Amino acid sequence: MEQDFLPLKGTDYVEFYVGNAKQSARYYQEAFGYELIAYAGPETNVRDRASYVLQQDKIRLVLTSSLLPESDISHHVKTHGDGVKVLALWVDDARKAYDETTRRGARSAQEPKVLKDENGEVVTASIYTYGDTIHTFVERNNYRGPFLPGYVAKSFSSKASKKPVGLKYIDHCVGNVGWGEMNQWVKFYEDVMGFKLLITFDDNDISTEYTALMSKVVSNGNGYVKFPINEPAEGKKKSQIEEYLDFYRGAGVQHIAIATDNILETVAELKNRGVEFLMVPHTYYDDLLDRVGTIDEDLQPLKDLNILVDRDEEGYLLQIFTKPVQDRPTLFYEIIQRKGAKSFGKGNFKALFEAIEREQALRGNL
Ligand code: FE2
Repeated sequence: MEQDFLPLKGTDYVEFYVGNAKQSARYYQEAFGYELIAYAGPETNVRDRASYVLQQDKIRLVLTSSLLPESDISHHVKTHGDGVKVLALWVDDARKAYDETTRRGARSAQEPKVLKDENGEVVTASIYTYGDTIHTFVERNNYRGPFLPGYVAKSFSSKASKKPVGLKYIDHCVGNVGWGEMNQWVKFYEDVMGFKLLITFDDNDISTEYTALMSKVVSNGNGYVKFPINEPAEGKKKSQIEEYLDFYRGAGVQHIAIATDNILETVAELKNRGVEFLMVPHTYYDDLLDRVGTIDEDLQPLKDLNILVDRDEEGYLLQIFTKPVQDRPTLFYEIIQRKGAKSFGKGNFKALFEAIEREQALRGNL
């Protein structure tokens, strides 16, 4: 077996560039049950930005806003709206990760840099992937602080503080790329990052009467990091991927799938807190058990919460998708519970995409 030249220990964090990080941080705390754990900004001698670090189980999100009108962050937000800038990957050797990937053709975003404070040191280095999105390699074996050097521990509590909702870890992060660019980005992950192609969906798998897309899923060696890549396909009407590309002004992260151990409890609580989900018609449930066979859950609560089910050779999965979490119809979330299945819910694509089309039509973008 050939050596994995880019061993990854998982997703380290996801960083968003947003218009108002202070308010976005409250949204993720109150709606999704994250806890504020660290902060960097003017009070910590960072002059140009403010960053809030949120955590729930193994998931770490960073929300960053610019304090200046002219900056990479401001430009990113102006162009893309709120969106994902960094998909950070946890490694044992950031310099090696950077050297191996740039030698294979990755475009550098930041050369290896050592960050230090009283809690130890972290090495980071970054490369570009699709659009303005970057991968940052994070080597943190010699660090004991709350997040990265320069960040201070910070918590927020009020009488209204909420508990976690059972979000556990990032299952996969999906990128949307331009017309005809999917294979080029699959090749990037294969050649530059040593990922393997896991699954291919063509427009016959992913189409409705009106719209279509194509998708390929790549995975790293140990399977901890999975990146599906979508591109729009020709249909009678505008693909949801095209709508994304129009509003994001290019390629970027479309959705982040987050795993839970109990999707019924997690989704019920998210709905309590006002998170909006895509709805499929109740007829979806009429022949569900014929399609997926026996499942542990009762049908009625799944139907009440509009949770989707799909089965593959290895088991089944339960999933549901939020509406976009900002005004532009760009990033959304998937909540997923895997019960053996390692796939992505192909059997739900049609019902799901019809639900998305209804939302597109409401926005005047179909
Ligand atoms: Fe997904």
